[in-house]
Amino acid sequence: VSTRTRAAEVTDSHYAAVMPPARQTLPPGPPLPLPLGTLVTWTVTLPFWEWCRARYGRMFTVRCFPWGTAVFISDSEMVKEVFTGDPAVFHAGEGNALLAPIVGERSLLLADEDTHLRARKRILPPFHGESVRRYASEVERIVADEVERWPIGEPFALHPRMTAIAFEVVLRAVIGVEDGERAAALRQVLPASAEWDPTILAGWAVPSLRRYGRWRRHDATVAETHRLLREEIAERRGEADLASRDDVLSQLIVAGDASDEELCDDVMTLLIAGEGTSAAALAWAFERLLRHPDALERAHHGDDEFLDAVVHETLRVRPVIPAVARQLQAPVELGGFEIPSGVTLLLVGSLLHSDPGLYPEPSYFRPERFLGNTLGLTYTWIPFGGGRRRCPGAALAALEMRIALRTILERVTLRADRLRDERSRHRNITLVPARGTRVVRTA
Ligand code: HEM
Repeated sequence: VSTRTRAAEVTDSHYAAVMPPARQTLPPGPPLPLPLGTLVTWTVTLPFWEWCRARYGRMFTVRCFPWGTAVFISDSEMVKEVFTGDPAVFHAGEGNALLAPIVGERSLLLADEDTHLRARKRILPPFHGESVRRYASEVERIVADEVERWPIGEPFALHPRMTAIAFEVVLRAVIGVEDGERAAALRQVLPASAEWDPTILAGWAVPSLRRYGRWRRHDATVAETHRLLREEIAERRGEADLASRDDVLSQLIVAGDASDEELCDDVMTLLIAGEGTSAAALAWAFERLLRHPDALERAHHGDDEFLDAVVHETLRVRPVIPAVARQLQAPVELGGFEIPSGVTLLLVGSLLHSDPGLYPEPSYFRPERFLGNTLGLTYTWIPFGGGRRRCPGAALAALEMRIALRTILERVTLRADRLRDERSRHRNITLVPARGTRVVRTA
């Protein structure tokens, strides 16, 4: 209640300060009713957005679920205005409210303004560049173990293998468990907790469904995950070597300002935000590399700088979260329009990244474009979002991707099972390769 009241106050003063009472308008867009707008947005997502940009420009309006009226933006100046705008006006937490049953009520993802800032300050230190470097050898070990199990000579999908790697990174680097009964139990329930789809989501939107079938089973799995995590947290608090442990959870406990419930929500948030995204990004990196022999060759023999460029270019051409949302708590003036309160702005990385004015020949996969050139990308390369909500896991994800690429390329030889590009499909909050990056290991 207090957040809402404060937002309303800021809203009023913001409105008074920046805008005279005026006609409120929206950028043009296809005149589709909400059900049709929803259908095309969630089925032919990227071609539909491309078409809208070609027809209406870098700012267009579509009515679609779950946002209602959504203004899609792919202009870097406007992206900057939104990312650096007043956090009391540009909210993100409310849009994630549906995730509460899995990430917990106290999750950073659900918070806005001061509550968000506090949660973020608490969670950030273990994710700084310096801190995440300590996970490098752990990640390498995880990837090397995983690669051992890949079959030779028969096609298989790489994406589930990347999910296994990303999950193990969360388990060991974030939660800090590896062996023992509880680790084994968490290996059983955590992936199933993190697996949610539109059907499960419907159960969160309509709670009465949760008494039945799949919804009830999913709730039970999440409850068991929370129970195991709380047990782990309680035990960890008493451990003598706590201060010297590297994992994120131990560092959050040592920092000392979080309750067991907050820590449990932190871990679930990091799992949900970090596992599917990293796995999808790695799957796309191979989907692209295996169709670009020159880049593959160079990545195989290349140094870390080239691998980082591969990571940048993959996230440019295939941003796994294609757009980030901010819901307006007050009217704002943007791009010559006066956009009313309540509208959601979507900053569309996949359109921004395919703007030929920013990236010449944007559909080409060309990691070289990022060599020695990753500064000044803040508002033109936004796979990790931006501003106060920029992904705190970005440094860990980039490290994980670089090490996984290097370790896999060193140990096995892969080829795509067919040459045609894989299309995208939605999975949870991400866009993943539709066929799961199918490959054949040849050596
Ligand atoms: C390639 C992998 C990843 C991608 C593409 C990605 C992308 C994103 C994006 C687009 C956002 C929203 C930012 C915004 O609204 O401006 C976000 C938020 C977040 N990400 Fe990531 N992410 C990745 C990996 C990770 C990892 C490994 C973790 C942690 C283990 C993580 C934790 C989070 C958290 C906690 C948030 C919420 C931040 C907030 O609301 O303040 N992410 N991520």
